[in-house]
Amino acid sequence: MRRPLVMGNWKLNGSKASVEKLLAELNAATQGINTVDIAVCPPALYIGQAEQLLANSAIALGAQNIDVNRQGAFTGELAADMLTEFSVKYVLVGHSERRAMHHENDDVVARKFEAVKEAGLVPVLCVGETQTERHNGETKDVIGHQLHAVIKRCGRNSFDNAVVAYEPVWAIGSGQAASPVDAQKVHEFIRAQVAAQSKDSAAALPILYGGSVKAANAKALFSMDDVDGALVGGASLDADEFTNIIKAAC
Ligand code: PGA
Repeated sequence: MRRPLVMGNWKLNGSKASVEKLLAELNAATQGINTVDIAVCPPALYIGQAEQLLANSAIALGAQNIDVNRQGAFTGELAADMLTEFSVKYVLVGHSERRAMHHENDDVVARKFEAVKEAGLVPVLCVGETQTERHNGETKDVIGHQLHAVIKRCGRNSFDNAVVAYEPVWAIGSGQAASPVDAQKVHEFIRAQVAAQSKDSAAALPILYGGSVKAANAKALFSMDDVDGALVGGASLDADEFTNIIKAAC
């Protein structure tokens, strides 16, 4: 049985003051919720602060990105091993904003996925099609490639102790989430691709939906068999809204 997982991706938002306020509110509002795994991914600079604020909390920490390298002359980068010193559990890899704006191709994403696993952390592989790809009927092709790049590099059991987030690019930040039925079709496809490699990893794999998730649409999305939770952007910056999304997964 898969436990629901709701993750907040704060992207490039926050300040010391807002991190303190948001985490205090979330800690209070999520007390007693024990049927859903919860995580937040602050900007890297605030991970140390967040670790302290979450010391006695069930809310886990995630990072938004890492470098493929473990150490060395890579100015401005961050290694997965460093995150292990800050109680980080999850690392997003292949978010569409990084694929599009930072030119991360499937190969780079697969190398990052591998680096996260080698550090003993849980990679959250983000996959999804653009609007044009969707119109051209290429959704499954695109997502198949994104998954298989990881399988090619990390093997049949790539998705043991990992998470996949289906995030249609057209739905991110647009206010236009995928319909529950459309999300379910893609999630089912993702699980089938993983099952073709390993039935056990497919059965255990949390597959999150991301893209304009709000309290108002969360319950319907979570009612789908293969939607195991959400990766939430904008709505995760508001404690009430994010808590209501978490409660929809209870
Ligand atoms: P959104 O972002 O919830 O603001 O659409 C989701 C994401 O990019 O992870």
